[in-house]
Amino acid sequence: MKKLTGLVICGGIIWCSSLFGAEAPSIETGKLLFGSEKLGSSGKSCVTCHLDVNKLKIAATYDEDELVDIINRCIAGPLEGKKLDSGSAEMKSLVLYIKSLKTKELADTGR
Ligand code: HEC
Repeated sequence: MKKLTGLVICGGIIWCSSLFGAEAPSIETGKLLFGSEKLGSSGKSCVTCHLDVNKLKIAATYDEDELVDIINRCIAGPLEGKKLDSGSAEMKSLVLYIKSLKTKELADTGR
């Protein structure tokens, strides 16, 4: 019985952490998505074209709706992917990441 309880607790913790890991939007997730080819089917990622993220500093000041529009245009266009829902964790993460570029000192951090 003890073993079973342990298993259940363990499973619960794994389930919870995977749930939060996947669902909670974060700059880190956005950064990963930015470099991922999985957003589309063309074998490209955002980085393919936006290698110099310093150039996105201006875009970082756009409001969220505007960014969602632009990002979806880039996804549906060159990435040949499916547009993301504006409320999805993926889109929110991408927006958070782009917005984070406004304040970051990017030139030498390599991130
Ligand atoms: C095939 C190349 C290509 C890919 C791939 C691409 N973009 Fe773009 N993106 C462009 C071009 C071209 C523009 C418009 C010109 C510009 O501002 O650089 C643009 C504009 C933008 C802008 C607005 C920039 C500004 O200053 O107004 C953002 C933000 C952006 N893209 C994000 C993304 C994201 C996020 C992805 C990945 C999901 C992505 N792009 C994938 C080519 C691309």
